[in-house]
Amino acid sequence: MNLTVAMTGASGAILGREALRALESDERVAHVHFVASENSLRVLAEELGVSGRNDLLEKLLGTAPKKTVQHADADIGAAIASGSYPSQGMIVLPCSMGTLAAIANGLANSLVSRAADVTLKERRPLILCVRETPFNRIHLRNMTLAAEAGAVIFPVIPAFYNKPSDSTEMALQFVCRVLAHIGLEQPGAFVWKGEE
Ligand SMILES: Cc1cc2nc3c(=O)[nH]c(=O)nc-3n(C[C@H](O)[C@H](O)[C@H](O)COP(=O)(O)O)c2cc1C
Repeated sequence: MNLTVAMTGASGAILGREALRALESDERVAHVHFVASENSLRVLAEELGVSGRNDLLEKLLGTAPKKTVQHADADIGAAIASGSYPSQGMIVLPCSMGTLAAIANGLANSLVSRAADVTLKERRPLILCVRETPFNRIHLRNMTLAAEAGAVIFPVIPAFYNKPSDSTEMALQFVCRVLAHIGLEQPGAFVWKGEE
């Protein structure tokens, strides 16, 4: 698989980090294109203590990337900005209300929103892990617009029934659900068995 992961300036940087780590070690994934919006850098610094754009991937992965490449959000000439480039989908995790608005309204004025626009026009999976609380009517309308255009609205609402031991485990299990949705079931995913 060839996937795109974008991180934007919503809370939940740990989720993006866990997604990148899971994809980097998943043998079914050949290439990951990573884009961090300018404002995600502020949240990364606040939430993970990761500062600066230099070696960002290495800082997030904890090791040198083998299959993940980073693109600047201003680089609208990157491969993923074109539908001719073969991609199997895109995950925006976390997705801010600003980026949701840009995608829902087709702005395509940054690499994140352009790559999402391309993903929708090519009818490829686009997963928007939106995060805000509470939602105003503009957020709700934009989610409807994006869903009607083919995106999956996958809100950052973690599960509690798996009794996560800490925030990393909670993030990891959320990421497992996102990746399963795109066809990449993870070996460590919690599966509810109910009463047997
Ligand atoms: C620490 C921090 C947390 C934030 N959390 C959210 C959030 O959960 N959801 C959201 O929509 N915006 C959040 N914001 C605001 C966005 O970063 C801001 O609207 C920004 O313009 C989004 O830009 P982007 O979509 O290009 O990344 C947060 C900002 C900071 C500094």
